[in-house]
Amino acid sequence: MIRIAAAGDVHFDRKSHNRFCQHFINLKDKADVMLLAGDLTQTGHPEEMKVLAEDLRKCPIPVVAVLGNHDYHVDQVEQVTNILMEAGVIVLERNSIILSINDYRVGIAGAKGFGGGFVGACGSDFGEQEMKSFMRHSKSQARELENTIKEMEADYKIVLLHYSPTAQTLMGEKKEIYPFLGSYYLAEAIDYGKADIAFHGHAHGGVERGETPGGCPVRNVAQPVIRHAFNIYTLERSHKNLENHAIKEALTENS
Ligand SMILES: [Fe+2]
Ligand SMILES: [Fe+2]
Repeated sequence: MIRIAAAGDVHFDRKSHNRFCQHFINLKDKADVMLLAGDLTQTGHPEEMKVLAEDLRKCPIPVVAVLGNHDYHVDQVEQVTNILMEAGVIVLERNSIILSINDYRVGIAGAKGFGGGFVGACGSDFGEQEMKSFMRHSKSQARELENTIKEMEADYKIVLLHYSPTAQTLMGEKKEIYPFLGSYYLAEAIDYGKADIAFHGHAHGGVERGETPGGCPVRNVAQPVIRHAFNIYTLERSHKNLENHAIKEALTENS
């Protein structure tokens, strides 16, 4: 059994000191690893990421993160990535990490992902250069994610994204913006890679639960959706399915 604390869209700014770490009390007894599904900051400014990094230094369990679109806004991706890594956070972008948890090899494949839309309502790699660039970025994110998942030699295969692989967890968002919230290419990567569960954020107005066409559970852990600092999920290999034990931490401040 492994226990995953997961959250996305914490959107730290320069005044967010100690907002997350106050929920780390006894976390070691509740979870084995923390996953952060991107949009860690408001604009991706290094000063914002430093505030979060100070919080995450106090996390008693390993932290694995991907960046979100907000973390790219001011073009300081390398700097903010380094700030997280110096705080001990494992930052993934189209690569993976294998952790040893309770004698299991737990593989986590991470990518920001991208938009593009879903079956019957998606963009195409055709026409203007800008449109082709958009869809090619979407496809390359998915293609590299699939290869990363397949290459992991692990007992559990977990996918960590910012953008959504399914429209199911977007319910509540305006349909017009679905193509900017995720891509079904990501679901194909998850299914072809045979992942056990996928987490994402980005869709603040969506819902927590969905699944890929192949039946892989998908959880939207954006803080405005889960309404807590994080949720804790338990994975049991014997049943090869997911249980949400609904152990939740109260948020004193909504992001
Ligand atoms: Fe967000
Ligand atoms: Fe986002």
